[in-house]
Amino acid sequence: MEKEISAYFSSKWMGKNLICYETIDSTNVDARRKAEEGALNGTLIVADTQTAGRGRRGRSWESEKGETISASLILRPDIPPDKAPMLTLVMAVSVTRAIEEETALSCQIKWPNDLVVNQKKVCGILTEMSVKKNTIDYVVIGFGINSNNQTIPQELADKATSLKLEAGAHINRASLIAKAVRYFEEDYERFLKTLDLSEFLEEYNNHLVNRNRRVRVLEPNGEYEALALGVNEAGELMVQKEDGEICYVYSGEVSVRGIYGYV
Ligand code: BTN
Repeated sequence: MEKEISAYFSSKWMGKNLICYETIDSTNVDARRKAEEGALNGTLIVADTQTAGRGRRGRSWESEKGETISASLILRPDIPPDKAPMLTLVMAVSVTRAIEEETALSCQIKWPNDLVVNQKKVCGILTEMSVKKNTIDYVVIGFGINSNNQTIPQELADKATSLKLEAGAHINRASLIAKAVRYFEEDYERFLKTLDLSEFLEEYNNHLVNRNRRVRVLEPNGEYEALALGVNEAGELMVQKEDGEICYVYSGEVSVRGIYGYV
């Protein structure tokens, strides 16, 4: 896997320090271990399969051997910790670009960080960070892509799919990983110039599957229905409630569902 991925690499520095496993508990957990040991900014961890893959909000994440992409990047940005969650949205843009180029499928973003093809999830992104004395020690951004899965477990079949199932063709995982890393390198450098999403608003909102749709916003202390308008420069989802009030939904605590289903 290592040689194959390296052969496709075209980034300048991101992912050049590459660690590949056949099996690992979780590439995010391993990236955190490596970061604690001093791994370089831009280190990329890839695994063919994970035994304890992690999803958002404490959920688990399944990765089928040889069929999915499980990858995590270690970053050491010199930015205020409260800016780091926006990196998840930046990665969503980068992976969307990579998927569209590699497969010719149209890929959309379900705010904040699910990627969907034909209304079903193909990729999830998980960002974790370690802060010491109010300064970022490291950020780990992991992405899992259902690439060559031939089937989807029945309980997920109404909301998840794979690139292969949608494209009807085998996906070159190494090439897709290399593209995602190259685009993220570009997008990360763009983000560091402004520390907001101003550079990405058009691209993100043009791909936003929730845009102009009614959504259910699930917050820790309640839920409500609203019309999703788009994201702002801070990466918040702007929604309009029935009474016209505009609310800014911050991704940390909430989840958004379509009122009829997953999107
Ligand atoms: C989600 O949608 O809930 C986020 C899923 C993130 C899964 C990826 S797979 C690679 C990396 N390692 C993990 O344990 N999780 C992320």
